[in-house]
Amino acid sequence: MAGTQGTRSTPADQAREAVVETALAKLDLDAKARLLAGQDMWSLPALPEIGLKSLVMSDGPIGVRGVRWTSGDPSVALPSPTALAATWDPELARRAGVLLAQEARRKGVHVLLAPTVNLQRSPLGGRHFEAYSEDPYLTGRIGTGYVRGVQSGGVGTTVKHFVANDAETDRFTVNNVVGERALRELYLAPFEAIVENAHPWGIMTAYNSVNGTTMTEHRYLVNEILRGEWGFDGFNVSDWMAARDTVADIEGGLDVAMPGPRTVYGEALAQAVRDGRVEESTVDGAVRNVLRLAARVGILEGAQPAVTDIPETVDGEALAREIARRAFVLVRNENNALPLKSGSVALIGAAARDARVLGGGSAVVFPARIVSPLDGLTDALPDGSLSYAVGADPNTELAIADKGFELRAHCRDEAGTLIGTGATPTGEVNWMGSDLPDGVTYDTLHTVELTGTLTPRVSGPHVLGIKGAGAFTLTVDGTTYFDDVQRPADDSDPFEAFFGLPQPHAEVELTAGQPVEVSLTFVVTLPEGIPFKAVVFALTHQEPQRDEDELIAEAVAAARAADTAVVVVATTERVESEGFDRKNLRLPGRQDDLVHAVAAANPNTVVVVNSGSPVELPWRDEVAAVLLSWFPGQEGGAALADVLTGEYEPGGRLPTTWGSLTDAPVTQVVPADGELPYTEGVFIGYRAWEKAGRTPTYPFGHGLGYTDWTYDSIDVTGTTVTVRVTNSGPREGRETVQIYVSPSEPTPDRPTRRLAGFATAEATPGETVTVTIELPTRAFETWDERTNAWTPVKGPYEIEASHSLTDCRLRATIAP
Ligand code: BGC
Repeated sequence: MAGTQGTRSTPADQAREAVVETALAKLDLDAKARLLAGQDMWSLPALPEIGLKSLVMSDGPIGVRGVRWTSGDPSVALPSPTALAATWDPELARRAGVLLAQEARRKGVHVLLAPTVNLQRSPLGGRHFEAYSEDPYLTGRIGTGYVRGVQSGGVGTTVKHFVANDAETDRFTVNNVVGERALRELYLAPFEAIVENAHPWGIMTAYNSVNGTTMTEHRYLVNEILRGEWGFDGFNVSDWMAARDTVADIEGGLDVAMPGPRTVYGEALAQAVRDGRVEESTVDGAVRNVLRLAARVGILEGAQPAVTDIPETVDGEALAREIARRAFVLVRNENNALPLKSGSVALIGAAARDARVLGGGSAVVFPARIVSPLDGLTDALPDGSLSYAVGADPNTELAIADKGFELRAHCRDEAGTLIGTGATPTGEVNWMGSDLPDGVTYDTLHTVELTGTLTPRVSGPHVLGIKGAGAFTLTVDGTTYFDDVQRPADDSDPFEAFFGLPQPHAEVELTAGQPVEVSLTFVVTLPEGIPFKAVVFALTHQEPQRDEDELIAEAVAAARAADTAVVVVATTERVESEGFDRKNLRLPGRQDDLVHAVAAANPNTVVVVNSGSPVELPWRDEVAAVLLSWFPGQEGGAALADVLTGEYEPGGRLPTTWGSLTDAPVTQVVPADGELPYTEGVFIGYRAWEKAGRTPTYPFGHGLGYTDWTYDSIDVTGTTVTVRVTNSGPREGRETVQIYVSPSEPTPDRPTRRLAGFATAEATPGETVTVTIELPTRAFETWDERTNAWTPVKGPYEIEASHSLTDCRLRATIAP
């Protein structure tokens, strides 16, 4: 498969390559070294001497945040990557990508820092929600669709984080010890598939080490495998602050060190060339990769961009809603409890009102609107048929002040003179690099005061607190509650200033509807340990906590009075985010107690699980239906109403196994002495569950629709599988036909079965549809560590056409 991503395949590519070479030849060493270093948090410097504009990057993956980290600059928020993968639909992923490119263009972004295609090795992984699946094949297919979509809109991608960045604990230093076979068959496989099938214009190298070498310096994995064997011709950008050594990085194939302005490239790189520690031709190679990217995205004068026909405008809200309902996985539906029958509905749960639509960390974007389940059902159900009760609130911690606050930031110099003001739609200030309010500079800025009003939604004791490090003064309703220095809770992660825990400082008795003045003043200290200047802090808030038993009792009464109870349970930002892993898979707070109690009061209880990754569902056999909604994006509540009312089917299938932590075979995320050995080899996810002979709560691939399917026939010719299915149920629907390949004579060193293909059938009642699925040759190969090569494994094989991993409907035996 060497050289699949050839750099000079078409005349247009050749012409672009010629412009790149001419531009490169005009640059002196200093300019070249400067181009390879971030000039700030998100961009590379412009080089007017060659007609190169500044290249702008932005996260990714569910939206395009842009260069400003604020709700003042909103973005469409699509469902979480786990949700996108649950659609099992690369075409839908492609359409998501087209929308994201449109968002990127709107925000002046040339490269999206996405998709995340690390594998869900352990359910405890903190960024599990941000990856697609435990299965490399499904991950590769969804990632391919996504990259094709984004790049068809003329915007680059950086497939991340290369490679084995599968957990968060000690992420900057952990050495993941992974056998070559597991690397090839699992962790590298999605990257390889995407390079081959979608030709990404970029890749992001991870923080962690693999087998003793940190990924930004990994010559073997980057230069030999990614570029050499696979023919990747895009640029390689470091994860943010992952580049640590000028010579080792450039020799290891790292093109760009981000963010800046202080990096190990720039002047340090030019000096290394002058000292004879680095060949200038090595620098040229990296510059060539960056210029090629710039040419592709259309910011290098004289070069025709890779895309000249921009796709038609996409309606972001409609697409977000479509993906959400296609992603919802109905894992249980006793006696066809769903769709809802007519009658009254008691909607219960804090997340039904304050929806959790996305995961935390660098994946955060700020949508212009959020449709909560309460909003969605209020719109969809007849007037008077819906009641609402909180039931249990898992948000027992301080959150960014946003409920009832109206705030503005006032910037002052040392003399106390107002030098500028900034809009702050919430209590969060995240000004990075030059992104300061008009008229304000780091030299003149001394204090930032967030000031305005809080109009409480509920009466009682409100807690206010501060996120950030430095000297703060917090005043509420004329009383000063804190006037001191707050220190970071944990300074081991340089992004602690962004993602660290808030600390409580004031408990104030307030009355619903009666506004009070609030002020938080920060004496500006710039965060240490990051290469750019920033003002980062937040006013945080917690509404009065009601008595938990009372809340449950209220919900039980509401459930008893209604025909159906719909309980929305959720994780919180402190459970699923970046920079830390999960400790357990339990729902936070009293939510499990709530569901037990509601289920006992109403046999017609439907539970909606609003989490990005697996949680334990100890009450699942007590309730009528369980619908997994993931982090459903900004239109989640509208999509939920679509599906609960039966307007649409829930279309999702599990992209990862759901089970309890005690049963999960691979869970380890905490390194010992800096090392995390992947001792399980090629057995992660369902491969591991099958090897261990354990039955999970819900298997990989599982998910119900609102109609039934019969599998009529399977035919295998060579590697082409043809399956005929009939919609034998009452309404039109969609079936994801899954093909698993299983050696007829199992051996302990190979997985019992693996996903090797899938396709979607759509049919009306009684209609028969044929799907054709091409199996990859890799499904019949293994990586041989002795010969260091892919090696065919002789059959015979069972080819299973299945509704889920454990629900095989038809099989055929082949002997390739
Ligand atoms: C994350 C990346 C992200 C980058 C920029 C890092 O901490 O690991 O996924 O793209 O920050 O926000």
